[in-house]
Amino acid sequence: MKIVIPGGTGQVGAVLERALTAQGHDVVVLTRSPRGRQVRWDGSTLGDWAAQVDGSDVVINLAGRSVSCRYTKENLAAMMSSRVDSARVVGEAIAAAARPPRVWLQMSTATIYAHRFDAANDERDGVIGGHEPDVPGYWGYSVEIAKNWEAEQERAATPHTRKVALRTAMVMSPDRGGVFDVLSRLTRLGLGGPVAGGRQYVSWIHDRDFVRAVRFLIDREDLTGAVNLAAPGPLPQRELMRELRAVYKRQAEIGAFALRTDTELLLKSRRVVPGRLLESGFTFDHPTWRSAAMDLAARRRARGALTASPVNGRRPTSSNLARG
Ligand SMILES: NC(=O)c1ccc[n+]([C@@H]2O[C@H](COP(=O)([O-])OP(=O)(O)OC[C@H]3O[C@@H](n4cnc5c(N)ncnc54)[C@H](OP(=O)(O)O)[C@@H]3O)[C@@H](O)[C@H]2O)c1
Repeated sequence: MKIVIPGGTGQVGAVLERALTAQGHDVVVLTRSPRGRQVRWDGSTLGDWAAQVDGSDVVINLAGRSVSCRYTKENLAAMMSSRVDSARVVGEAIAAAARPPRVWLQMSTATIYAHRFDAANDERDGVIGGHEPDVPGYWGYSVEIAKNWEAEQERAATPHTRKVALRTAMVMSPDRGGVFDVLSRLTRLGLGGPVAGGRQYVSWIHDRDFVRAVRFLIDREDLTGAVNLAAPGPLPQRELMRELRAVYKRQAEIGAFALRTDTELLLKSRRVVPGRLLESGFTFDHPTWRSAAMDLAARRRARGALTASPVNGRRPTSSNLARG
């Protein structure tokens, strides 16, 4: 298959490009700064890049300004516009294509759901966020971004292309600079404890299950609309870190974070489960965090990360932690 991945140069794009290329597919990445085979686009206007979409089989749009930052007015505006504009222009390219792709997977986020502890959010009964009592008002903005992101895909007039919104939890891969790598470093430095009590749920998905779920959604012609991509076992942050300490054989420790990122990313309780995937017969290779963490730690070790220098030359901070 020819698979076009706008915004495929980041963490999630690397996971997908590697796996889909290894499976023999022709993967084309759209980026604002192309290298090698990558194709230039600007994420907001139609251009020559649209020829890549025409005749492709699948488009997976991942573009969006990183959310791992301080929520300044400027950053929030860029987080919104980069997502909405890129989804809109991908829709325009598909609509204009003589041979449109059969499916458009549009990245969304598990953050669209409400901050809650009492029950898990699936697609049918889950509560969309933005109206929770007792949370800072600005938390609602991330939900607004997610809603507008999805709305842009829904609005697109692409009658020959199936549309799926990927409400994705934190994608855990062994790659340098990814969330798992940073959590591992903190744990090994003795800083991998609970944050603010650690009651808040963390939803996550193992990278290979993420790729398998994407393949499943490409193949299943009957599935459209919003789908949660999260392992069935979200868990409170303090348990997530306890399991990681067990994997790395460390004692109980404090949670220490250089707070360069926004507190919502660390404190919001994201309790999200994969209702539609499970109902549709998808099975997870790593449904529990213990199994996922053991596998990821072994692969991370195999790539020699434990003796390597800091992530991209940066110190591990919470700003690398709070994706999705
Ligand atoms: N990582 C996760 O666990 C996770 C979970 C749920 C949802 N998501 C969402 O999935 C997407 C990919 O995640 P990621 O972790 O791979 O993010 P990432 O590493 O920050 O990569 C996102 C890509 O978006 C592109 N981009 C950034 N600003 C842009 C703009 N203004 N216009 C057009 N393109 C822009 C960048 O590509 P170029 O600079 O090369 O153009 C970048 O490589 C993001 O939208 C993220 O919010 C991620």
